[in-house]
Amino acid sequence: MKIIGTGSSLPKNTVSNDDLAKFLDTNDEWITTRTGIKTRHLLTTEDLYDLAVDAAVKAIQASGLRPDQIDFLLVSNVANRHVTPGLSCIVQKRIGLTCAGLDINVACAGFVNALMLADSMMKSGHAKNILILCAEEPTKYCNWHERDCSVLFGDGAGAVVLTEGNAFKDVKLTMISDRDVLYYERGMETTPFESHYIKGQPLVMKGKELFRTAVSESAKDIKTILDREHLTPDDINWFMLHQANKRIIEGIRTIVGGTEEQYPTIIQKYGNTSSASIPIMLDEMLRADQIRQGDKIIMSAFGAGFVSAACLWDWEF
Ligand code: COA
Repeated sequence: MKIIGTGSSLPKNTVSNDDLAKFLDTNDEWITTRTGIKTRHLLTTEDLYDLAVDAAVKAIQASGLRPDQIDFLLVSNVANRHVTPGLSCIVQKRIGLTCAGLDINVACAGFVNALMLADSMMKSGHAKNILILCAEEPTKYCNWHERDCSVLFGDGAGAVVLTEGNAFKDVKLTMISDRDVLYYERGMETTPFESHYIKGQPLVMKGKELFRTAVSESAKDIKTILDREHLTPDDINWFMLHQANKRIIEGIRTIVGGTEEQYPTIIQKYGNTSSASIPIMLDEMLRADQIRQGDKIIMSAFGAGFVSAACLWDWEF
């Protein structure tokens, strides 16, 4: 499997830390030193479906394929205003696709999990050309009266088109069931038979615990891949990590090794865009001509669950 096209899309509206400090008890200094985030893009006039379609259409155009040559659509999305139908159904026609598709929710680790599925579908002969679309609006499930979660997130979408090839080398997935570390609970309709109605609740996060687990589990995933593939950090050109916090990225680098230059970041511009963060960064790096034939790339992400995932590429255009 290899990637032959990428696309990304961010909302037009850029929100700075100072903008947040106008209505939250926070400040630029706290957010910058604790997270590395300076700005994020938030949905205003557009909706998530517009971003999703824009990113997907750009990825298909970059791939050189026609939409009718895409055999399957895999969408990673944590939540949007529709519980059903899935986001893949909602955007399929607008992207110009006729193939089947499905949605997955593996929180911020959705992209790497979708890569594993795409690889399996290609190996089983089920599909040759696959579109993975990660579209996320985490700012819609934060409590905007509180400063703890709302300052961390941004909205965005990233997409890749994959076809047969030998670039995708290895993948490791981890799940440690712990709902309480990070969750968003949506309210549901009441029935005449229910005794404990639970109304929805905005994102709840145990920040410090999540920080520690993210660093240790991601480092473990990456080291497993390095060991399995007989590689050292010096062999890797790019460690593309989920963009949740600059300090988490630094923490992982301290354990795994490698220079700061090997760990690119977009967190400062976009905040945490959940499963869209790695495909957005990949799209920007490819368009900036930063990635070369044969580059070794490790991608690694973590999120609510607790889940984490890592994979290795030998880049092939
Ligand atoms: N602005 C100012 N102060 C804030 C704040 C904000 N936006 N958010 C929290 N604080 C305050 C807290 O109320 C607390 O105050 P107290 O000490 O008076 O009780 C204090 O800052 C906590 O600071 P600190 O202990 O330095 O925070 P931290 O180093 O744990 O950093 C996070 C907080 C959230 C940035 C960090 O824990 C983190 O990044 N966790 C992982 C989050 C994440 O990645 N989530 C998504 C995963 S996909």
